[in-house]
Amino acid sequence: MADDTHPLLEGLGVERVSEPVAVVIFGASGDLTSRKLMPALHALMAGNQLSPATAVVGVGRSELSDDDFRERMRKAVEEAGPVDERAWQALAAGLRYVSGGYGDEDTYRRLEVVLDGLDERIGTSGNRLYYLSTPPRVFATVVHRLGQRGLHRPAGEGKFARVVIEKPFGRDLRSAVQLDEALHEVLDEEQIYRIDHYLGKETVQNVLALRFANSIFEPVWNRRYVDSVQITVAEASGVGHRAGFYEEAGALRDIVQNHALQVLALMAMEPPASMSPKGIRDEKVKALEAVDLLTPSEVATETVRGQYGPGWVAGEEVPGYLEEPDVDPSSHTETYVAMRLRIDNWRWAGVPFYLRTGKRLPKRATEVALGFKAVPHLPFAATQATELGPNALVLRIQPDEGITLRFGAKVPGQAFEVRSVSMDFSYGAAFIEAPAEAYERLLHDALLGDPTLFIRTDEVEQAWRIVQPLLDAWAEDPHPPAPYAAGTWGPARADELLAEDGRTWRRP
Ligand code: BG6
Repeated sequence: MADDTHPLLEGLGVERVSEPVAVVIFGASGDLTSRKLMPALHALMAGNQLSPATAVVGVGRSELSDDDFRERMRKAVEEAGPVDERAWQALAAGLRYVSGGYGDEDTYRRLEVVLDGLDERIGTSGNRLYYLSTPPRVFATVVHRLGQRGLHRPAGEGKFARVVIEKPFGRDLRSAVQLDEALHEVLDEEQIYRIDHYLGKETVQNVLALRFANSIFEPVWNRRYVDSVQITVAEASGVGHRAGFYEEAGALRDIVQNHALQVLALMAMEPPASMSPKGIRDEKVKALEAVDLLTPSEVATETVRGQYGPGWVAGEEVPGYLEEPDVDPSSHTETYVAMRLRIDNWRWAGVPFYLRTGKRLPKRATEVALGFKAVPHLPFAATQATELGPNALVLRIQPDEGITLRFGAKVPGQAFEVRSVSMDFSYGAAFIEAPAEAYERLLHDALLGDPTLFIRTDEVEQAWRIVQPLLDAWAEDPHPPAPYAAGTWGPARADELLAEDGRTWRRP
């Protein structure tokens, strides 16, 4: 679609049907394929958004037959919700499995045979969407091997071969740049779709709608009116069975580098001239480039890293991070990060952006809150406004998706007393349309060739530049992360960070 207007703000409700295609999932025996990708493909087929000539080829190291794979995928779809038999039959006819090592040439030779067969039997017509859901260390290998066999090349005029890459994209700035170089040896940037599933969430996209489809918010969306911004990505769950991955990642790489900074970019960016992929991504990059990079000494004063200990979440006693299966009992991996960032540009100079994320916090809640400045002069006695907090606009990304505006109102009665009240917009109540699952939306966009909601190479690098000083300083720091009990809002130091500025974290 190159530079066409993004359908986000136009033609809403118009179904877009993708072209015949073979979707090749590398890492097909993994969790993401069963939990997200296959249910998303099924939902898209059920919603008539996929061509009936859509095949799905799983590639993985587990030895599975086509029938085994079909059975697994059927289970995955059943677990996700009611099965649309017509949609399932359409997908099942084109389900294939190729087992083999990702670095093994033979895997790709056999894959090619399967793909050619599908072009003939199902009519996938040479279009390919490769989805890399493997361990990140083999991303470059898979793309290299695809290149060696020429599988990365579009099959002809009007055909496509695209590669979707899961996060994490690198583990620091250097490795991200290296990975990018390896990908670009084989692929053009237009073929690469770096996924961040947060951008597939309706409410994250709604930041764009809220800001740029309304005239009442943008005039106050700047340093003159905004006192501070808080971005919270809170999870009640612990590390679960993902310690193998999480021990290497930690909250900074897992959430801040991607999801949290993507939300920050959408909140902070300038209005794009058009909703084109380039228009939006250029502005996001500019916002990220304006983030003031922390110096090593600022990492100590502007950031907090924490690790959960044992505690109680939602009435259940839970172990601490160090007691979780497969976690090194002396691990310094952080499960909580809070930080104060500055954005050095005309719009945001002097407005702190507070970010926090953590596992085993009291509840699952992702939200962004703009706190507004106090009025220049409060014409009431202090006793009349004791319950008046700052005006705030809160975008609830999940759960309970919606927007809240907090402002002061007179308490009914003889006395003149002002108290903060909320005006609420709830997605669930306002729309009957069910929001698409993030992966559904993003897979469909990748199939349609719309890169707007995927991360461009310069965005990834800029996000790494922002977190790199933290990675470096923490790698040198012999102290463990600050402990916090599971079920609490993180280490005390995170509260002090805001208290220093006379502010407090919101309680979502
Ligand atoms: C993933 C992280 O990217 O996002 C997980 O790897 C995290 O650790 C998840 O739990 C959160 O996503 P969501 O959609 O549940 O907010």
